[in-house]
Amino acid sequence: MWDPAKYLDYGDLRARPFFELVARISAGEPRRVVDLGCGPGNLTGTLARRWPQATLEAIDSSADMVAAAREAGVPARVADVREWSPGRDTDVVVSNAVLQWVPEHRHLLRRWVGELPAGAWLAMQVPGNMDAPSHTLTRRLAASPGWAPRLAGAVLREDDVGTPQEYAELLADLGCQVNAWETTYVQRLTGSQAVLEWLTGTALRPVKAALDAGEWEAFREQLAPLLDKAYPPRPDGTTWFPFRRVFAVARVP
Ligand SMILES: C[S@@+](CC[C@H](N)C(=O)[O-])C[C@H]1O[C@@H](n2cnc3c(N)ncnc32)[C@H](O)[C@@H]1O
Repeated sequence: MWDPAKYLDYGDLRARPFFELVARISAGEPRRVVDLGCGPGNLTGTLARRWPQATLEAIDSSADMVAAAREAGVPARVADVREWSPGRDTDVVVSNAVLQWVPEHRHLLRRWVGELPAGAWLAMQVPGNMDAPSHTLTRRLAASPGWAPRLAGAVLREDDVGTPQEYAELLADLGCQVNAWETTYVQRLTGSQAVLEWLTGTALRPVKAALDAGEWEAFREQLAPLLDKAYPPRPDGTTWFPFRRVFAVARVP
């Protein structure tokens, strides 16, 4: 369901939050560094370069993403974050733009903090744009009578991610030192139907997977003008696409 090439279309814009997240990890010589939901592995590789002495572990539930990561030299394997538990030597865990797909991730964060060794770092980033027009318009269209029977459960919900303060409280209640924040990136996209193209690589994947080719085209055709109105292209053809992201970095007690 994940298309590594499509996902990498906006590689620079998608990479920046990752670097701003891991910049807040102050681990010196971690024994094991884990990337949960590693995607195509291009960013995972930077973890290996930062901590060359560490054992690198990377998992992703998409076989296509794991194949791409392995091609990029990352020793990735197919696994679901819900099934993952840290080894006793795990000193750094990174999960970038993944946990929004795992509604029960608050429970997972509690479990991982309980299982990680003292002093370990747990760093996560999730999109915080579930109430932005890109998502509300998609949800509204998917819930309309013509689409609802095919698309129930295929779109991200508003409560699939928390606020920075919610994650800060959850992790602080477990005794962690916490650094939580949010950033809205004012992204400038190029090309026609730029926001639709962006969403096709991420949030619209489950919609595409639930529809046949003709239906998917029809859904895109109906969504495109709504997105164009909410995110009008500029005279030079570029489009501003503000994107809020939520970050939390915790140090396990
Ligand atoms: C938006 S991509 C992020 C990839 C990478 N972390 C990055 O920052 O470029 C989301 C990734 O999460 C993976 N994913 C989604 N749900 C997952 C789960 N339950 N377990 C493991 N990986 C999952 C997807 O397969 C996809 O590769």
